[in-house]
Amino acid sequence: MKVEPQPTPDRKAILPTGSGTTDLHLRQRTITPISTDAVPVIEAINVSKAFGATTALVDVSLKAYKGRILALLGDNGAGKSTLIKVLSGVFPPDRGELRFQGELVNFTNPAQARQCGIATVFQDLAVCELLSVTRNVVLGREPQKGIGPIKWLDIKSADEMARSALHRLGVRWERGLEERGINISGGERQSLAIARAMFFGSSLLVLDEPTSALAVRQAGRILDHIAQARDQGQAVILITHNFRHALSVADDLTVLAQGRVAANFRRDEIDLDELTDLVARVG
Ligand SMILES: Nc1ncnc2c1ncn2[C@@H]1O[C@H](COP(=O)(O)OP(=O)(O)OP(=O)(O)O)[C@@H](O)[C@H]1O
Ligand SMILES: [Mg+2]
Repeated sequence: MKVEPQPTPDRKAILPTGSGTTDLHLRQRTITPISTDAVPVIEAINVSKAFGATTALVDVSLKAYKGRILALLGDNGAGKSTLIKVLSGVFPPDRGELRFQGELVNFTNPAQARQCGIATVFQDLAVCELLSVTRNVVLGREPQKGIGPIKWLDIKSADEMARSALHRLGVRWERGLEERGINISGGERQSLAIARAMFFGSSLLVLDEPTSALAVRQAGRILDHIAQARDQGQAVILITHNFRHALSVADDLTVLAQGRVAANFRRDEIDLDELTDLVARVG
């Protein structure tokens, strides 16, 4: 995808005149404006990223705040996954900067972002198929025991951590914790990945299409978990193609189109019809 420079569309210029109302199951309280002195948990400032001749992001700025869910929307190829990979240390931006809790950061790998408390559930890699349920939950922070320099996984503590993480999420796990990721369903994988992110008390939870492969009830459960993470004070960035899902949990919405920010809204400034129309127009 080639992107030609173009001004960011004005909200009023791209919104349709009439606006419908849609009855959505809202999982949230009244949406308050972001206070002017609040420091974003993560902030991207004029981030650009290209892959060879393909321009994925152009001058993208975005802020995610504690206790708020930011829905990141846009058509296929809009740059959503690339943006959250930059935020999660998968690759550095070509230009622009990242600030974590107001401090400039230069992540060179995902482990550095994780150490800052950025927990990301990637679109294509939510769960390690060869690892057990327990190993998937404790991944990256495995409890160890050992003698001198020789260390090994403390299975008992790890199982307790996994059980407690799943319990806190309200996930009833009937099968053994030794079950491998390859044997569990898409919904269970997402629950597990979110359990992992929540369990480690991350300050920012980033979810790339967590509900895309799920049945209605399962998707509802995941959205409840996401709202729960927000209510526990985490900042959340949620990528989804499902506008209902976005509108049912989000506090703020950002629409990307062809690698640029096309619009920013607070949830109470837009409804389903307007959002659908907007994404269709700018995509
Ligand atoms: N690793 C990569 N190498 C080359 N090009 C890439 C790479 N990752 C993404 N791109 C390109 O960058 C652009 C943005 O892709 P990205 O995956 O960020 O889009 P997206 O908004 O997440 O789309 P989708 O909704 O389909 O997941 C696309 O043109 C894509 O082909
Ligand atoms: Mg993507």
